[in-house]
Amino acid sequence: MLLKDRYDLQISTSSDVARQAYVEAVDAILSATGNVENALDRCINADPNFALAYSAKARILQLKGKMPDAKQSAEKAVELAANATDRERQHAQIFQLLTSGQGPAGLELIRKHVNEHPTDAFALAPACSVFGLIGFSGRVDRENEQVELLRPLADAYGEDWWFATVYGFALVEVGEWVKGRAMVENALKQNPRSAHTAHVWAHALYEAGEDKVVADYLEKWLPDYSLDNYLSCHCWWHFCLSKLMLGEHENVLPIYEKYCSPKVSNSPSINVFTDGAALLWRSELAGMDRSEEHWQELLEFRKNSFPKPMVFVDAHGALPSIALNDQEDVNAWHDALIEAGQKEKLPAGLVPAELVKAFKSHAQKDWSSVITTLEPIADEVVRIGGSRAQRDLIQNTYLSALINDGRVETARSFLNKQHDRQPTVPLQNFN
Ligand SMILES: [Fe+2]
Repeated sequence: MLLKDRYDLQISTSSDVARQAYVEAVDAILSATGNVENALDRCINADPNFALAYSAKARILQLKGKMPDAKQSAEKAVELAANATDRERQHAQIFQLLTSGQGPAGLELIRKHVNEHPTDAFALAPACSVFGLIGFSGRVDRENEQVELLRPLADAYGEDWWFATVYGFALVEVGEWVKGRAMVENALKQNPRSAHTAHVWAHALYEAGEDKVVADYLEKWLPDYSLDNYLSCHCWWHFCLSKLMLGEHENVLPIYEKYCSPKVSNSPSINVFTDGAALLWRSELAGMDRSEEHWQELLEFRKNSFPKPMVFVDAHGALPSIALNDQEDVNAWHDALIEAGQKEKLPAGLVPAELVKAFKSHAQKDWSSVITTLEPIADEVVRIGGSRAQRDLIQNTYLSALINDGRVETARSFLNKQHDRQPTVPLQNFN
């Protein structure tokens, strides 16, 4: 007899132990909480022929950046799924595509798959969130595309906490943070320890400028969250940011040092690097002193982890060497961005190269160059990926240049024209 997963979909195992461990592992990945590997080991021990357990294993390995192992596990799933249901066969194929560098084909198959099996949440998840297949597509309209993928599925999911989390996030990112916040609030009632949900809650409140609420919430929520879980660095980053917004400058770097820095964090390198660089840069824009030691650490980390530009790291990659005035590294990164952009190897094309130029001009106090570099590409910055909150790195650099150039009123009217969000803008000599 076939058993069913939490979404009432049939799964090809007859072991209750495997079923229970699989549901636990899937929920652990969907919430970025708990011990996924342990649950999957129990699952595979109970039923070594259960295909979807290997797809789930492929996904967690991929999220942790262990690509060769992820690919191997995804292939094993496809092999075992030959005798499973049609849904499971297609599910396994999706993860095979995603772990073999075929993202666009994987996204196409996910679209087809959720049309046929809307509540296959685990197969849909890689296409969600700001670091997902759509988030990192480099497309200018990707935020609406994300909403449009999820909207038709809302009825099928009902009140499900995971769907409310990803759909709520998508809405926050198109400016509908009031609606997104209500959804996520409901999701948190069902699953208060879901890190993905707590994270989207922090985003909704960031957009609202409710920094004190975020800080108080995360201060209570974070200590029980394992530092080994892959969302750890990023959730602590949000906490640091809330402290920056509140003007508690003395608290920002001690928290960063303890929970986010490359020395201590086990989170994916992309988060450790981009969150760290963005936080240090934004703390300086807010008037904090430069910390050469932290920048140096990040520069070393980038050299070891990202010898070449890749999505999202591209735009942040030169920040440490710009801050440290290491012109050789800045120029080498800029050249690499131009080359990769021209060869169409970066989703955001040449936008990251322009951003490096703007950051460099800011460090050189060439305010008009910052402004004239950023204004023409304002509508294209979304292509680099990430959330609105993360891209405030660029917006705040622009506003800082305006303020330093004596154009405070222009900065103010720029913000006044944003009707769909009201985050705090912590900049020196502003407000
Ligand atoms: Fe975030």
